[in-house]
Amino acid sequence: MTDARARLLVRDLGQLATPAGTAAPLRGQALGQVEVLEDAFILCAGETIEAVGRMRDLSSLDGDIVELDGRGLCAVPGLVDCHTHAAFGGDRVGEFSLRAGGASYEELHAAGGGILSTVQATRAAGEDGLRPAVELHRSWMLREGTTTFESKSGYGLDRETELASLRAIREAGGIPTWLGAHAVPPEFADADAYLAFALSEVLPDAAQLAEAADVFLERGAFDAAQARRYLEACRDAGLALRLHGDQFTESGAIPLAAELGARSVDHLEATGEEGIRALAASDVVGVLLPASALFLDRPMPPARALVEAGAAVALATDFNPGSAFCESLPLVCSLAATQLHLSPAEALAACTVNAAHVLGRADRIGRLAAGYRADVTLLDAPDWRYLAYHLGGRVAAGVVVGGELR
Ligand code: NIG
Ligand code: FE
Repeated sequence: MTDARARLLVRDLGQLATPAGTAAPLRGQALGQVEVLEDAFILCAGETIEAVGRMRDLSSLDGDIVELDGRGLCAVPGLVDCHTHAAFGGDRVGEFSLRAGGASYEELHAAGGGILSTVQATRAAGEDGLRPAVELHRSWMLREGTTTFESKSGYGLDRETELASLRAIREAGGIPTWLGAHAVPPEFADADAYLAFALSEVLPDAAQLAEAADVFLERGAFDAAQARRYLEACRDAGLALRLHGDQFTESGAIPLAAELGARSVDHLEATGEEGIRALAASDVVGVLLPASALFLDRPMPPARALVEAGAAVALATDFNPGSAFCESLPLVCSLAATQLHLSPAEALAACTVNAAHVLGRADRIGRLAAGYRADVTLLDAPDWRYLAYHLGGRVAAGVVVGGELR
């Protein structure tokens, strides 16, 4: 189908920065290779980038052109948040205050607070409450420069609310992941009884709505055998696989992910040397969530060691009400630089092309080059590295999504 819209020319950009090459995921040296064009333009035809280049190489253009003045701005690929939990009701500000006073996240979870308190609020919100909630969270992300977001369900844990969550995520333009194994809801005696229900009653419909499945493999949630049972059933139903693993304890997430061909293991704050080696030897991406480690005052994941060992890593917010009430990928890039010791170039690749790979879309998003989707994040900065440098600053000046300024 041809697009009748006028072409969009973003002109006179101070800099344009994009991960170099065409491969995905990027690892090792290649992770830090960013191509920077000074005094640059981006020409968008409909939803697609037609050309990028230096202003001096811009030839005269025929037809209807809408021009956007890029003076004082830098352009990077639209940021991709490949791990969020945006479908929830209520909040956990009370719990946050208790944690500030010394209560631990795991203790609150074991006492029936934590995730299960959000399950209660999410069930009460229902689909009519979830739709505006996901929309609101999506608008916060957009304001911070995120043009593509994944979101998990996982706060319904009953048939109706899990499916309502996945629909609300889709309707808000998100990429839905069924986190059917997030916690054991109170109406079930144990994890096995809950999984029997989830896999027979929810999976058939969830598989029609979601692209991937995710499990919280952790002490107090699901063990490796239960995670395997859940993931194998989800794989057989056609879903891509992801795991929350090594957040508090190493419980076998990395070997399981490698064996099952999962797309990612996310968190990794507790990963040791053997896990680092195993991840590096696999095709599984390690998704690093430094805002969550910061928010819970937990150790940071061994990001530098992972990169040096040759593992593919991505960065994401983990936006959720309990462990990371943070929607800002620029803030995550700052934490990546100061806490994970990634360079701004590595951080950029980790939340663009590598995050796109985790979502199965690296051929279409995550780079600024002809043929890619016209998703652009404009930075209010003289140098693109302000993305990581401006700690907590309002660095995203605007976004172009599918060729449209938002
Ligand atoms: O990724 N770790 C499990 N799940 C989420 C947190 C969920 C919550 O606390 O509500 C996470 O950190
Ligand atoms: Fe998470």
